[in-house]
Amino acid sequence: MEQRLMEPGKRLTGKVAIVTGGASGIGAETARQFARHGAAVVLCDVQNEAGQAVAREIQEAGGTAEYRPLDVTKEDQWIALVADTEHRYGKVDVLANIAGISGRPAGVTVSPGVMTGVEMKDQTLESWNRIMEVNSTGVFLGTKSVIPAMQRAGGGSVINISSICGIIGSFANAAYHASKGAVRIFSKSAAIQYAKDQIRVNSIHPGFVDTPMARPGLLGNESGKARMDATPLGRFGKPYDIAMGCLYLASDEAAWVTGSELVIDGGVIAK
Ligand code: NAI
Repeated sequence: MEQRLMEPGKRLTGKVAIVTGGASGIGAETARQFARHGAAVVLCDVQNEAGQAVAREIQEAGGTAEYRPLDVTKEDQWIALVADTEHRYGKVDVLANIAGISGRPAGVTVSPGVMTGVEMKDQTLESWNRIMEVNSTGVFLGTKSVIPAMQRAGGGSVINISSICGIIGSFANAAYHASKGAVRIFSKSAAIQYAKDQIRVNSIHPGFVDTPMARPGLLGNESGKARMDATPLGRFGKPYDIAMGCLYLASDEAAWVTGSELVIDGGVIAK
């Protein structure tokens, strides 16, 4: 098959993308960058006002975006979302599964010893299940729901946000690590199953990125200092750093990339 080389410039022209977690942090920035590069973006979240504000901002900048409420743990909502997206835009090319939770209970002190949550012996089954449900099951449901639409479209790209916590262990919340490890290997499995349909599935593994989720463990405390010291490039990530990885994997430039894990972490796990 002859490979089409893209002209420099917009990299997602004509593509239709669903982005979860689109109301905040990495998801919001990915939605902005996808739209900036010509995609029609359906951004989803459970924070409705913030999600609508991101969609409005993209529209005002001349992009195509709409906000749709979606709880990633609800299969019926996924089915409706994909059907509506196909109906409105004719197809689905890209799914970025970015929604996630840290599972850190409000008020838990963030310290270098137990950096982002409770110790394992104190973790409740309820909190374990919730973290797995949003971070892992949500990625499964999203991927499952878009596969038939991507098969109809003749291919697609699924981008699953894991974490460096899906590759290495730490003092942090074990359930979060487990949920992100599941995303990593789920992505490889899905990549193998659907390569025959030209559906690519890859995971991205961010390091410490300054977002509302991560901020309590990054700024103005000992944990932040420990994490900065652990980051060879000497700064925390910005949502843009991760959005650029999503943009690459969404684009046709990544046509031969599937089952891969893209680490974007300022060098943390290279050590
Ligand atoms: P964030 O808190 O700014 O964004 C997460 C978004 O997911 C929020 O808008 C939230 O409302 C949404 N969300 C939560 N539960 C949901 C549900 N059930 N259904 C739909 N949406 C839901 O945090 P951030 O940092 O932008 O996180 C994005 C992803 O990146 C997450 O999967 C996170 O685990 C991952 N990540 C973040 C890192 C960081 O240092 N910020 C590091 C590694 C991974």
